[in-house]
Amino acid sequence: MRAVLVANPKGGAGKTTLATNLAGYFANNGMTTSLCDLDRQQSALRWMAFRDPALPPVTGYYGGNQISLSLPREANWVVVDAPAGLQGYKLSDYLRTVDKVLVPLVPSIFDMAATEDFLNAIRNEIRGRRGKVGIVAMRVDPRTRAAGMLEEFLKHFDIPIVAYLRNTQNYVNVAAAGATLFDPPRARHKRDIEQWSPLIEWLKK
Ligand SMILES: Nc1ncnc2c1ncn2[C@@H]1O[C@H](COP(=O)(O)OP(=O)(O)OP(=O)(O)O)[C@@H](O)[C@H]1O
Ligand SMILES: [Mg+2]
Repeated sequence: MRAVLVANPKGGAGKTTLATNLAGYFANNGMTTSLCDLDRQQSALRWMAFRDPALPPVTGYYGGNQISLSLPREANWVVVDAPAGLQGYKLSDYLRTVDKVLVPLVPSIFDMAATEDFLNAIRNEIRGRRGKVGIVAMRVDPRTRAAGMLEEFLKHFDIPIVAYLRNTQNYVNVAAAGATLFDPPRARHKRDIEQWSPLIEWLKK
């Protein structure tokens, strides 16, 4: 079993979008996939309830009231969707329990400012474990000034950007059907799926 935590203290950064699509990727690649929703709003579980039973299965549960995070050993991959505002001892516990951490980050001054303390906390917690944390630049084109601003900001933390995902209604539309980019018909999302490949490669390392 391997586990990936998707976290950012800023609301609306794209955690649930990233977590559900990642679960969809694993499920469509024949892996037993579990989604652990830590958010009291339970958006990820709501998404799962809409999922067509004919699609590759993603099972899920609410893990937000566990004192210490416990993950299903029988799954190949567990995707953990964190709530906004995550910090302190819970953040430390989650960081210890998972193999990888993905931080979706929108390159706006508001989002970067709200994420700064969190990235510092993570860097201190995982000291020496380079390769454990990666940033996913959300809703951004890598050739823009916004992307340059994000890269400049991240130099302070020594955490790599593992993917750039563009701003598109595709994410909104698939979510409404309990689906992901990786569920059929995939051809419709070819351009977006390509943007995920460096992220997937990084996760497998
Ligand atoms: N790449 C994208 N392109 C377009 N819309 C996006 C993209 N990523 C996320 N969104 C939209 O942005 C909104 C916020 O995303 P999401 O719910 O995934 O964030 P979150 O970090 O889980 O929020 P919360 O902190 O409330 O849990 C949603 O409406 C989602 O559909
Ligand atoms: Mg969410």
